[in-house]
Amino acid sequence: MRPSNSADLRHRIARAAALLADAGVASPEVDARLIAAALLDVPPLALMFTDAPAGFAEAYDAAIARRAAREPLQHITGTAQFGPLKLRLGPGVFIPRPETEVLAQWAVDALDGIDAPLVVDLGTGSGALAIFIAHARPDARVIAVERSEVAREYAQENAAANGASISVVAGDMCDPDLLSEFTGEVDLVVTNPPYVPEDPDLQPEVYFDPDEAVFSGADGMDAIRGLVPVAARLLTPTGRIGIEHDDTTSRAVRDTVHANGSFSDIAVLRDLAGRERFVTAGKVVP
Ligand SMILES: C[S@@+](CC[C@H](N)C(=O)[O-])C[C@H]1O[C@@H](n2cnc3c(N)ncnc32)[C@H](O)[C@@H]1O
Repeated sequence: MRPSNSADLRHRIARAAALLADAGVASPEVDARLIAAALLDVPPLALMFTDAPAGFAEAYDAAIARRAAREPLQHITGTAQFGPLKLRLGPGVFIPRPETEVLAQWAVDALDGIDAPLVVDLGTGSGALAIFIAHARPDARVIAVERSEVAREYAQENAAANGASISVVAGDMCDPDLLSEFTGEVDLVVTNPPYVPEDPDLQPEVYFDPDEAVFSGADGMDAIRGLVPVAARLLTPTGRIGIEHDDTTSRAVRDTVHANGSFSDIAVLRDLAGRERFVTAGKVVP
């Protein structure tokens, strides 16, 4: 229970990183530092000058044991960074992934030149995409659709904490009548739906996300097949859509968007690792 000086702290973090590496954690040094920084409530760069208070060692060891059991870092720290946003998270809500920032930035760029745009985020989870867009475009009206009540509560709270205004709506992204009052009025639909195909070789951390946030039929395409006609109905004649998908389903997503018959300019965006992860399209001009 004794306090420890900054040298003790560095040694403890190094030991924790070795333990996490043995457990198969992909970024053990970073995680060991971020957990220490979160517990001490200091920026990671300040750790080398920080003395830990009494009780820290026990709390840190317990948190590292959770991470070694492959509980996601974000559940342990209770937060995730998404672009400029700090989002609160916990069990029952999907952890936003860094690759989704590519879709978020594409969405903001797609709104260039549109005054007071109407945007719909299908499957908002913690609110990551919706809040990113509302934060970048305070003149936008952003409607965030989500089926899970737990996730909707996180999205509301995260919007308020980040000073963004979004409307969180209970709904099914595949419901043919979703948001029928906005038919033909939406400038942009963005979505990071559940899309992971059934596969026995997923990282253990994935199973801490709610199943309904991750999986969508054997090929991971059920939600995407359901939402494309909904988006086609909602969009204005010049509206656009951006869909995140699994890196194995780019062709299937493009085919689904094409087969709907309402879209042109169907394009592929890659994530930061160069994998095909997003399909974007615009409504066919009549
Ligand atoms: C992959 S998560 C994405 C969350 C968030 N957009 C993000 O990027 O971090 C998918 C989200 O869609 C929600 N969801 C799944 N199926 C849905 C449906 N049919 N209608 C509405 N939301 C759904 C899940 O609860 C989950 O929050």
